[in-house]
Amino acid sequence: MQLCWTLLVLALTLTAQDAVYAGRIIGGKKAKPHSRPYMALVERNTPSGKKYCGGILLRDDFVLTAAHCHASSYNVILGVHDINKPVNTQNISVKQAFPNKEYDKNTLKNDILLLQLNAKAEINTYVSDIAMAGPEDANPTVCSVAGWGCSEGSGPRMTTVLMEVNVTLGSCGDQESDSYFYCCEGKHGVGKGDSGGPLVCDEKVYGVVSGKIDEILHLFSKVPNHKKWIEETMNSV
Ligand SMILES: *[C@@H]1O[C@H](CO)[C@@H](O)[C@H](O)[C@H]1NC(C)=O
Ligand SMILES: *[C@@H]1O[C@H](CO)[C@@H](O)[C@H](O)[C@H]1NC(C)=O
Repeated sequence: MQLCWTLLVLALTLTAQDAVYAGRIIGGKKAKPHSRPYMALVERNTPSGKKYCGGILLRDDFVLTAAHCHASSYNVILGVHDINKPVNTQNISVKQAFPNKEYDKNTLKNDILLLQLNAKAEINTYVSDIAMAGPEDANPTVCSVAGWGCSEGSGPRMTTVLMEVNVTLGSCGDQESDSYFYCCEGKHGVGKGDSGGPLVCDEKVYGVVSGKIDEILHLFSKVPNHKKWIEETMNSV
């Protein structure tokens, strides 16, 4: 069972002054409807049924998600705010999946997967793409994360609407991890259904929700590391 309040309580994010402010609530709320038109709900068809991940619309025909969200086939739902109220949504199947070849499922390094849509999304008020941060962009500190944390599992649901929370990034603990991930600390955190969703800073996508360590350190795959590969892949089709 997924905890459907996980993103809500990601609000319990620690800041740079961790030791002092451990567990302090700094925010976390329902997103304003369609304020993040690049948000995608990735419906994954797996042997054990439908599962969900977050995703990020990068171009009208490409969505970025996490490699650990792989499945046998996918549908991408765009323009969603409340999962139970599909108005103005676009449900598009996936033509081809491009997992990053360097993905390591043990360490979650390069946890990035590109999905090419079978049809171009219609860009409108509810659906539009977001720019990627590149190696030339400065290291961010204050960012936001969004997701439908309760989209997976059948436990009690508090909300099915898109949630968002502000996070303060810090070190992942060692140089090696810092080269692959952005990190934030929090007692609770991003739930499984949030995987693949965006870490947004300065209106660009910097990270993809990946995993967590010891239930406290949340990892985001670094998009700038992969921008070149992503662009090359999108331009190759
Ligand atoms: C995140 O910070 C921004 C800018 O300070 C603020 O407008 C927004 O309401 C905050 N979001 C949440 C979820 O607390
Ligand atoms: C998207 O379309 C597929 C195929 O038609 C369907 O099985 C699935 O239930 C749809 N998903 C949503 C959330 O509407």
